This record gives sequence, structure tokens and C-alpha cells, in this order.
Amino acid sequence: MRLDKLLTHLGVASRSGAREVLKAGRVRVNGEAVRDAAFQVAVDDKILLDGKLLDTRLSRHLLLYKIAGVLTAKEDNRQKTVMDLLPPEYTSLGCMPVGRLDKDTTGLLILTTDGELAHRLIAPERHVDKVYIATVDGCLSDADVEKFAKGIPLKDFTCLPAKLEILSPNLGRVTVREGKYHQIKRMFGAVGKPVTALHRLSFGPLALEDGMHPGDYRELTDDEIAALYAAAGLKHE
Ligand code: URA
Repeated sequence: MRLDKLLTHLGVASRSGAREVLKAGRVRVNGEAVRDAAFQVAVDDKILLDGKLLDTRLSRHLLLYKIAGVLTAKEDNRQKTVMDLLPPEYTSLGCMPVGRLDKDTTGLLILTTDGELAHRLIAPERHVDKVYIATVDGCLSDADVEKFAKGIPLKDFTCLPAKLEILSPNLGRVTVREGKYHQIKRMFGAVGKPVTALHRLSFGPLALEDGMHPGDYRELTDDEIAALYAAAGLKHE
């Protein structure tokens, strides 16, 4: 890849800005100052900007602890999105959210630069487990647990069997294997107990760990990336 293009992808600067950065001699490749925008870089080249080593990986996979009040979208003209919780390099690299959490839902959201991975993880036939904590208006009962286990009929489809565990009268942990629009809220609505707060604990092999706080994010480890590709039924090179 051309060096100016790579710098742009990494969010260092716009394409013309990257040329300026190069002209100013601020970039070194494998120890040599490079001013030529068309210089071809290889994946294992060590690239320094102002003496600082750049992370040149073009594919990235993140786990974000979504806060309430932001949209799960790549961009929006009016409202803040989950991308606003991350450094701008992730937008330049083309990171996208995997599936969607409602604006008022908190918790685990995966973001990736791999469109196929994102697509496969949310494909209806993949049945990747997602675990949510729902606070409801009402008292959860054993009858609700049974209805969830049987599959709640909604107006447009019947949900796959889901596991509901009652943590306290108005707090339930739900495990679902699908992810239709507003599904959890609709499931609880169908048993007459509207959701007042919703939080996602896990998605497939990934879970929020104790030390994470709302708004925190981190890159996935190699093992987590491999587990995610396996959950998507994809091979990871
Ligand atoms: N189900 C919902 O109803 N909302 C979410 O944000 C996620 C799952």
C-alpha cells in the first residue's frame, strides 16, 4: 500500500495532510526518513511518526462498554454515536458496530473492521448467544420463565426458546440466540412487564469484565479474535 494512503487509513491525517506530514520528514520507515507519498509499505514495516511507532494493523476488533444515550451507528448527522466514544483512528479504519443496541441500552458492543465478520455474527442462522440483564416494571414469575423457554409469540414472529433467570422480582437475566429489532423489550412487553433498563453482559464468547466501566473500550486479544471468528463460522488467517 502507498504510504500516504496508509497514513490516511490510520487516521494520521487527510490524504493531502499525509503528504504534508511526509514532506516535513516526520515519517521514518524501518529507520529511514521517507518523504515520497507513493512509497510502498509492507505489512511488517516499522513506521514511526515523530519518533512514535504506529500501529499499522488495518483490521481491528474492539469491545466497547456502551453508555446510554448514544446511537449504535457508524455516523449520524444529529446525534452522538458509539464512534464518538472511540479515538478517530477507528472511524478512519472503517470500524463498524456488530449488530445494534438501542440508544438507552448499555453494555457490551463489538466493533470490527471486518464487514463479513460483523454480518455473519448477526446472521439469524448463526444463533450466537447474547446475555442481557433486564430491569422490568412488574414481578417476574415462573410462568414467565416457562413462556420464555417455550418461545414467546410476537406479532410478526415467534421467538426461539430463551432462558430467563429471575435474579430478583424485577430483575431478569435473559439468554437469547437471535437478535431481532427491540427483541428483549418486546419479549418482556409480551408478558406484560415492560423493560425499564437493559444491559448486555455478553455476546458469543465475549463478556464484559468486572474492571470495565461505561465508556471503556479495548482491543480484543488474539484468542478472543479467534473465538469470535469461530463463533461466526469463519476462518481467521
Ligand atoms: N433487545 C432490545 O430490545 N434492545 C436492545 O438494545 C438489544 C436487544
